[in-house]
Amino acid sequence: MSDAPFGALTDASIESATVAIANEAATAALARRLADSIAPGMVIWLSGTLGVGKTTLVRSLLAALGHTARVASPTFTLLEPYELSRFPVYHFDFYRFSAANEWRDAGFDEYFAGTGVCLVEWPELAGPDLPHPDLQVSLDFAADSHTAGTDIDTESPRRVSLLAFSEVGRQCLRAAAGAS
Ligand SMILES: Nc1ncnc2c1ncn2[C@@H]1O[C@H](COP(=O)(O)OP(=O)(O)OP(=O)(O)O)[C@@H](O)[C@H]1O
Ligand SMILES: [Mg+2]
Repeated sequence: MSDAPFGALTDASIESATVAIANEAATAALARRLADSIAPGMVIWLSGTLGVGKTTLVRSLLAALGHTARVASPTFTLLEPYELSRFPVYHFDFYRFSAANEWRDAGFDEYFAGTGVCLVEWPELAGPDLPHPDLQVSLDFAADSHTAGTDIDTESPRRVSLLAFSEVGRQCLRAAAGAS
């Protein structure tokens, strides 16, 4: 399980699935399939290289969960909170996270302990205190459509790999992998 966020974890109940997303409309369709299965308190990690579409998926999820106002990009903030009808959603982006003490000083533990849903971009940079996910969503550019080292073609198709580590994670994964 080299893709798993926890090196030692070999739990047979981990489920995986891969979904092709040809364009942003397909990202929105994936978000709509996921949204109904998202449960209060879930932690979802969004991994993948710069510009691959993590924030786009977060925006689509917020829309699918009923958010109608503009969605900020947390480029210079680590957290953007949203109060939605079903639960709060906390959108973290740890790209500019600097140190583990920033985690403690900011009180991020509280957000992960409650009923809010935490969507985390760049979880790899958050340090050791980041709670583990129910669902890990990894995006990459689909084979042959993107050559490493060239400019990112924002139009190129993406591939989404999902790993579920809990029952709510598995429910989301199965919904995401279902027909659109
Ligand atoms: N499924 C998709 N198909 C085609 N283009 C997409 C798709 N998803 C996102 N894009 C485009 O790719 C660009 C980058 O998307 P986005 O900002 O969501 O990436 P990101 O992974 O959040 O990047 P960063 O690591 O910088 O936060 C945007 O121009 C967006 O419109
Ligand atoms: Mg982003």
